[in-house]
Amino acid sequence: MSQFDAQSALIRIEVDGDAHPVPEGITVIQAMWNIGRPMLHGVGCLGGVCGACPITYRLPDQLASKTGLACQTAVREGMAITFIPSDVSKKAIAPLPKESPTQKTLFQYYPETRRCTACRACTSVCPQEIDVMGGVRAAINASSLGDLSTVAEKFTACVMCGLCAAVCEVQIKPHRAGMYARRLTGAFYPKEATRLLDRIEEVRSGKYASAWNRLLSADDEALSDYCRSEEALQGLAG
Ligand code: SF4
Ligand code: SF4
Ligand code: FES
Repeated sequence: MSQFDAQSALIRIEVDGDAHPVPEGITVIQAMWNIGRPMLHGVGCLGGVCGACPITYRLPDQLASKTGLACQTAVREGMAITFIPSDVSKKAIAPLPKESPTQKTLFQYYPETRRCTACRACTSVCPQEIDVMGGVRAAINASSLGDLSTVAEKFTACVMCGLCAAVCEVQIKPHRAGMYARRLTGAFYPKEATRLLDRIEEVRSGKYASAWNRLLSADDEALSDYCRSEEALQGLAG
C-alpha cells in the first residue's frame, strides 16, 4: 500500500500503453513509484533542475502531445505518458580557446547549428520555456564577441534535458551549443558579482551577527515561525 493511497481519489493514467490507477495530486515520477516502477534511470534531483526526466504526454481532450519534466508535471485523468530516453546527443570535446572566442569558435565544435530552418520545434518543447530557437538564431547571427554572451544568456535556465535536440529535424544540439556559449562567456566575459561582494562586506561588518545568533539559539518551533515570517522573506529578497 502506497503512502498516497489512503489520502487521495484515484485517477487513471496510461504509461507506455498500460492503464494504471494512481492517486490524483502527485507528480508523474511519484505515480511511477506508486505503480511499482522503481525508476532507476530517468530521475535525479526531483526538483526540476537536473533534466533527467523528460516525458511526452497527451491529454484526452487535446490532440497535440506535450512535453515536460516528470518530476514537475502533475498526473491528470486520462493522461497518456511516454518517457523519453536520457539525452544521448554527443557532446563535442570543446576546450576553452587560448584567445578570445568568436562565432567561429562555437561553430568549430557545433557546425550543424548553421543548418537551423527556424521551425521552432525546439522552443515549443522546452520545459523551461526558453526561447531555444532564438538562442540558435543569435548564434547564427553573432557578429561580435559580445553576441556570444547573448547566446549564453538565452540558455541560462537550461537543465540539459535534451528535448530540444530530440525534436530538431536537422540534428542541431541547441543545449550543447548553448552550454558552450555559457562556458566561453564565463571564461572571457566574466561579470563582477557586485551583489555578492556587497553581501560579503555586510557579513564582514557584522550586520547579520545578532540575527544569526538568534537563529542558532532558536528551538524548532521558533525556527519554523521564523521561516514563515515577513522578516525571513525580506531577508531572502534582500
Ligand atoms: S534548452 Fe533544450 S535541453 Fe535546455 S531545458 Fe530547454 S529543451 Fe531542455
Ligand atoms: S528545432 Fe532545430 S531547426 Fe528547428 S528551430 Fe530549433 S534548432 Fe532550428
Ligand atoms: S528528476 Fe531532475 S529534473 Fe526531474
